[in-house]
Amino acid sequence: MRLDKYLADCGIASRSESKKLIKSGNVQVAGIHNLRPETQIDPEAVAVTVRGVPVRYRRFVYLMLNKPQGYLSSTRDGRQPIVLDLVPEEFRHFDLFPAGRLDIDTEGLCLLTNDGQLAHRILSPARHIPKTYYAKIKGKVTPEDVQHFSQGVILDDGYLTKPAQLEVLTYGEVSEIALTITEGKFHQVKRMFLAVGKEVIYLKRIRMNRLELDPALPLGKMRELTEEEISRLEG
Ligand code: URA
Repeated sequence: MRLDKYLADCGIASRSESKKLIKSGNVQVAGIHNLRPETQIDPEAVAVTVRGVPVRYRRFVYLMLNKPQGYLSSTRDGRQPIVLDLVPEEFRHFDLFPAGRLDIDTEGLCLLTNDGQLAHRILSPARHIPKTYYAKIKGKVTPEDVQHFSQGVILDDGYLTKPAQLEVLTYGEVSEIALTITEGKFHQVKRMFLAVGKEVIYLKRIRMNRLELDPALPLGKMRELTEEEISRLEG
């Protein structure tokens, strides 16, 4: 791999800034510093430092976003804002995409990565990865609804959902609930409540598999996952 690309991939600087850093002698590879941007290196094998500080090579990045309302979790589609618009400069050169969809008015845990294989593994319908949502529902959610959801509900198109775990957090004219589903049909949570005559008025994803949304992460902000959190996504 070219040295300037390597530095850009590691998030050290943009490609053009990396070229300048290399030409100014601030980059060392195995102790050598009269290098050129096109110098070829083996990213897995070689020790690179920038101004004496070792560089950690990483090909893949995994970011947890607390998605705000008003952003599409797709790649560019017309003029609507998209979650990738929220990515800070330091991660922009990675080829990030959102792993999974949330509606424009849904908030919460959204995973951004450039690791297509991991995304495929966690999104594959065959794996039944559980996802948990917190929601506010117009109307009283009843024990019958809990029972009904545990057997699966029939959506407007006739599809019988997989059993889902519904927990009522507060009962009232507006009820608060947590719902865990293991599939991802279009508008699934909203349509499951419609199937029992109720309306979702606020929806937030709080968990994917064993990975929880960091409660300290403000809306619209993102941070890298730790190694442990990455393993919680899959295991
Ligand atoms: N179910 C929905 O209805 N909307 C989402 O964004 C996610 C799950």
